[in-house]
Amino acid sequence: MSYKLPELPYSYDALAPYIDARTMEIHHTKHHQGYVNKLNAALEESGIEGTDLNSLFGKISKLSTAIRNNGGGHYNHCLFWTILAPNGSELSAKLSEAIDTTFGSLDDLKASFSNAAATRFGSGWAWLIVDADGNLKVTSTPNQDNPLMDTAPDQGTPILGLDVWEHAYYLNYQNKRPEYIDAFWSLVDWKEVEKRYLAAIS
Ligand SMILES: [Fe+2]
Repeated sequence: MSYKLPELPYSYDALAPYIDARTMEIHHTKHHQGYVNKLNAALEESGIEGTDLNSLFGKISKLSTAIRNNGGGHYNHCLFWTILAPNGSELSAKLSEAIDTTFGSLDDLKASFSNAAATRFGSGWAWLIVDADGNLKVTSTPNQDNPLMDTAPDQGTPILGLDVWEHAYYLNYQNKRPEYIDAFWSLVDWKEVEKRYLAAIS
């Protein structure tokens, strides 16, 4: 089995002005495609077949750096594309309740998540995860790691993720990562995030 680049559920210019079309096109066709190609090559080289990425992440500390970086790269970008939508969507009751209980309010969650994204040194991701006890938590990981990996300090199921690699924002925002993080909130598809939340706690 080899992995394939998924189609985006919207056009490259659909997220403008928050994320510009050129950034989206390069991000999808060059960066994400690159992770897919290198993941397939690394799996072939290692003789691993027919195993899903979640299982590989659970023992990633025992696998090659190429599988870790490119497996994470593929998974993380697949998640990222699906939790974005032109103009985002409304947060619904069930997830809203869990957010209020854990963080106080949606604004408090946004502040915590934005801080994790802004302070992630170098390249990486900010995450909202559901941990093994079903609790929400904000965390971040370096490079293309994610919270499903056995190497992650905070492990759980990611339900929202933000790519803070410069390739995700540099054309439009240059070094101004906080402005890109602010813009991200206008694009979050909370319906998709809630779908992932409900699956994670079931
Ligand atoms: Fe990326």
